[in-house]
Amino acid sequence: MLILGIETSCDETAAAVAQGKNGKVEILSDVVSSQIEIHKKYGGVVPEVAAREHVLNILPVISRALEKSETPRLTKGGCPKGGGVNAIAVTIGPGLITSLVVGIETAKVLSCAWSVPVVGINHVEGHIYANFIERQEEIKFPAIILTVSGGHTMLVLMRGHGRYKTIGETRDDAAGEAFDKAAKLMGIGYPGGPAISHNAQRITHNDGNKVKLPRPMINSNDFDFSFSGLKTALLYGLKKDNNWKKRIPEYCREFQQAVVDTLVFKAIKAAEKYKAKTVMLAGGVAANTELRKQLEKAVEEKLKAAFVMPDLKYTTDNAAMVASAGYFRVLKKDFTPWEKLRVDCNLELK
Ligand code: KG4
Ligand code: ZN
Repeated sequence: MLILGIETSCDETAAAVAQGKNGKVEILSDVVSSQIEIHKKYGGVVPEVAAREHVLNILPVISRALEKSETPRLTKGGCPKGGGVNAIAVTIGPGLITSLVVGIETAKVLSCAWSVPVVGINHVEGHIYANFIERQEEIKFPAIILTVSGGHTMLVLMRGHGRYKTIGETRDDAAGEAFDKAAKLMGIGYPGGPAISHNAQRITHNDGNKVKLPRPMINSNDFDFSFSGLKTALLYGLKKDNNWKKRIPEYCREFQQAVVDTLVFKAIKAAEKYKAKTVMLAGGVAANTELRKQLEKAVEEKLKAAFVMPDLKYTTDNAAMVASAGYFRVLKKDFTPWEKLRVDCNLELK
């Protein structure tokens, strides 16, 4: 079964073709057109600009994904033909309304033109299903997923395909948002996650890092997070330090470690409480090398659970993850008639 995935929830225009067979997903093509260079100069995503770029890019990106899937029936004369696609999976929310609508309307038109069904996918569910790409055999339920992106920080209990319970979330900024804001304070670039991680790596030995930041809510009696206080603590730290520009790598390392400590601690606590058989990582912040390393180590040392994380290329926004989630929904015949497909910017994971 061939699934075309479409993702336009924020500032990446993405399309991918996945082959689903016997409960397994293989990605045949994965195309992402990133707008980072355009939004960089504003220090964040400008919704109007993002939407305009999606409109310009969506058909070329879909066309390229169909071509690259090397399923010759799928393209003719550069225009997408749906001959071989069995279903279209598209992100319907959460995200920026003006961005989401471009993907959804395109999916509707293609669904009509090709006479193939559509599946509406929650963006967070998409991130979770990045883990299922070629690794589904390692995943056993119940699973705990630490979902960390620019818009979300959640601990999700997953009891089966499409069965979610959010057991904890951020009370203010998302982890990725905290990285982005902290990087902005230090003027080291956008997006902030990679910039902070890169600067932190410049310290190769532990030479008595004097910078100390709090681990907000690490001892709270729940699975929630809070990162806005951490960003404020960083701001005060920088204000008090005349020499902070020379110590940016130290600030970055401590900031990153404060975020990683809280995320790892609560993920392990949740996995213990819910007797998880698998712990997974999802979302853009799952690209962070320290988070990947330290969560894997903690799971190995503290739990009898498997640890699964997505390939780096499937951590930040992409359509392969949407196609993957789409395949498992198609298996349950969870289609949405195209007339009923709607944007929901605040869509909850259920
Ligand atoms: O999932 P994503 O691509 O978009 C949303 O759904 O929000 O996540 C983007 C977020 C940004 O905040 C970015 O700074 C963060 O992921 N990110 C990272 C890294 N790479 C991207 N955060 C920490 N370390 C990274 N290496
Ligand atoms: Zn995302």
